[in-house]
Amino acid sequence: MNKPTDFARIPVDHDDIDTNPSSNEHFSTVLNARLSRRSLLRGGAASAATAFLGAMGLSACGGSDSDTVTAPAPPTGTTPPAEKLLGFTAVSKSLADAVVVPAGYTASVLYALGDPLTAATPAYKNDGTDTDMENRAGDHHDGMEFFPLSSTGVPSTSENSRGLLAMNHEATTDEKLSSFFLHANGGTMSLPRPAAEVDKEMALHGLSVVEVRKNAGKWEYLKESAFNRRVHQQTEVELSGPVRGNVLVTTKYSPTGTKIRGTLNNCGTGKTPWNTYLSGEENWSGYFTRAATDDAARADKSVAALKRYGRDQGAASRHGWETGGADDKYARWNISKTGVSTNGSDDYRNEMNGMGYIVEMDAYDKTRAIKKRTALGRYAHESAAFGKVEAGKPLAVYMGDDSRNEYIFKYVSNTLWSAADASAADRIATGDKYLDNGKLYVAKFAADGSGQWIELSITNAAIAAYANYKFADQADVLVNARLAGDAVGATRMDRPEWCSVNPANGEIYFALTNNSNRRVEPGSASQSAPDAANPRVYTDMKGTTAQNGNPNGHILRVKEGAAGSAATSFTWDVYLFGAEAAAAADKVNLSGLTADQDFSSPDGLAFSTATGICWFQTDDGAYTDVTNCMMLAGVPGQVGDGKKVTLSYPRADGSTLNVDTFVGKAATADTLKRFLVGPVGSEITGIAETPDGKALFVNIQHPGENTSSANVADPAKYTSQWPANAGYGAGKRPRSATIVITKNDGGRIGT
Ligand code: FEO
Ligand code: CA
Ligand code: CA
Ligand code: CA
Repeated sequence: MNKPTDFARIPVDHDDIDTNPSSNEHFSTVLNARLSRRSLLRGGAASAATAFLGAMGLSACGGSDSDTVTAPAPPTGTTPPAEKLLGFTAVSKSLADAVVVPAGYTASVLYALGDPLTAATPAYKNDGTDTDMENRAGDHHDGMEFFPLSSTGVPSTSENSRGLLAMNHEATTDEKLSSFFLHANGGTMSLPRPAAEVDKEMALHGLSVVEVRKNAGKWEYLKESAFNRRVHQQTEVELSGPVRGNVLVTTKYSPTGTKIRGTLNNCGTGKTPWNTYLSGEENWSGYFTRAATDDAARADKSVAALKRYGRDQGAASRHGWETGGADDKYARWNISKTGVSTNGSDDYRNEMNGMGYIVEMDAYDKTRAIKKRTALGRYAHESAAFGKVEAGKPLAVYMGDDSRNEYIFKYVSNTLWSAADASAADRIATGDKYLDNGKLYVAKFAADGSGQWIELSITNAAIAAYANYKFADQADVLVNARLAGDAVGATRMDRPEWCSVNPANGEIYFALTNNSNRRVEPGSASQSAPDAANPRVYTDMKGTTAQNGNPNGHILRVKEGAAGSAATSFTWDVYLFGAEAAAAADKVNLSGLTADQDFSSPDGLAFSTATGICWFQTDDGAYTDVTNCMMLAGVPGQVGDGKKVTLSYPRADGSTLNVDTFVGKAATADTLKRFLVGPVGSEITGIAETPDGKALFVNIQHPGENTSSANVADPAKYTSQWPANAGYGAGKRPRSATIVITKNDGGRIGT
């Protein structure tokens, strides 16, 4: 969710917050060390890529001098029809209240907010009177993964017509505390919130698993499937890894600090090499309230930690769930210190330390506990992408922290990968093995196109001796990973969203969605100067509203050093800069995007393992006067295939700030095309595919979110009526939903 900055109705943008006051990575420090980047980038790249391609059974689709793109062979099956990657005709920008896909493709609605997940649950009426939300699809469908099932219902890695979709239900569409489309009259906009409304809203946040299958050529979901599962704010979840049992997660609910209820504001996803689901908890801090006098009540270092994670004393909660009644399930949302214990076992002062993790779920087995993998650090998580998986080497997991000026992270397992674990019967135990013991690193980007992974360890002198926060132990470093990143001078980024690994060469792509707080001359601690990896500062007009900083975002990519997953150095460049096609080519549209390619605010991003296509999606508020959010298909080259560009910015004193950056090879009409545009007010997010690449599942999140709650009774005033206007379901209230895209000739998606 990313509300437009000129959209005054909602006072707080829950998805665009900044709490990083550190002065890390100011331009003066980046400006030093100008080496010849070419020499860093060229050596060894080709041979490493070739070796990896051989291992993957893929043909090269990027990095050659030719712009002609050939599809890699399908993994199995008979001779396919002739196909060309990105052979479709690009979709134009659109303001229609519809999902638009290229000619020759079909997009069908599969599974929407409120759809029943048991045989006994009635159909969704979609008028605000529905109940039993714990047995229905959650709201705000977000990241998603497909888990194939064999015809006999056992886990598979190759089945193409039956499987489970596991997905995140990030949030609800709000105005003034209430998720207004969920309640008959728009709900209660002031405190206290009625228990019935709070219960509904809590139930619709979390995860779902739903069985889907292709029946007579058409995809459908099975409401009666025994695999279907809902995870919501009452579901018990285990804390696993170094933070488990630590005093920082001691609560009245879990005096031993081993569990919490729920997983919250789940955004991006990942899939492990052992076939489990990973979910990132993103903007969870906004759901908690703190008393105006809580700093004095605590009088300890937790005050600094809470501030760094966006909860100053006096902070109001997003929905007022803490006012739902006396029950503990409401009280937990108030994290003020009210008890007298020294460890927090008599109140919820530590409750927020149980949110902010990568969460692992076995989508195939709903009897298994869900675990928060604390070794991967606590921050505003998006996706979790595994690097190249090699037997006998550690596993690397790449992640971003999505707030303005936050960091990029990498986790490296202590346990070396054993290929036999790919088919381990106990998948959660396999997660224990690889995700509970490892090292967490943060990224520091240099102006010469290189970078470093810096370990966040209590034994690191910069962390142990950090003046602004005294870390007690490694668990404290993980719970407060943002503070640890501050201590080691990590690079402040333009809101890291999803990341994904290019199967063709192992390079890691990070969507940096935008940053309204980049400034040539920062005027406050919350603003950052441009640097090599976040180099643009400009103004884009949306009507008469000026949007400053880096309004359109970019996609950065990283190539690990020789040590691969365990490398502590890397090289990088910018795959694409988001821009309007008509924007200045020397300052803004640095990637030379055409009208068939231009985009703003990249967010969801995932490579197809079937075709190698880099799919990316937008969650935009900057270009939405011209087009709704979209999904594009790219066939990228590799780090270092472009050129160095120097951006010059005038300073107030008449001097000039020069910022070098590195732009990937410009896309052509054959290597980048818009594939989909969504309905009004929606974000496009979540990408999952069948193993053969012939069905692509995509989520349409919060259509019509800019509808005023005052109009909840008048469908004619909804800004969107999707998916009802596409013929799906009862009522006209807009609903988040999963669509499935197929190619009419039966071919692979994106060809
Ligand atoms: Fe839920 Fe950062 O997007
Ligand atoms: Ca987003
Ligand atoms: Ca504009
Ligand atoms: Ca996102």
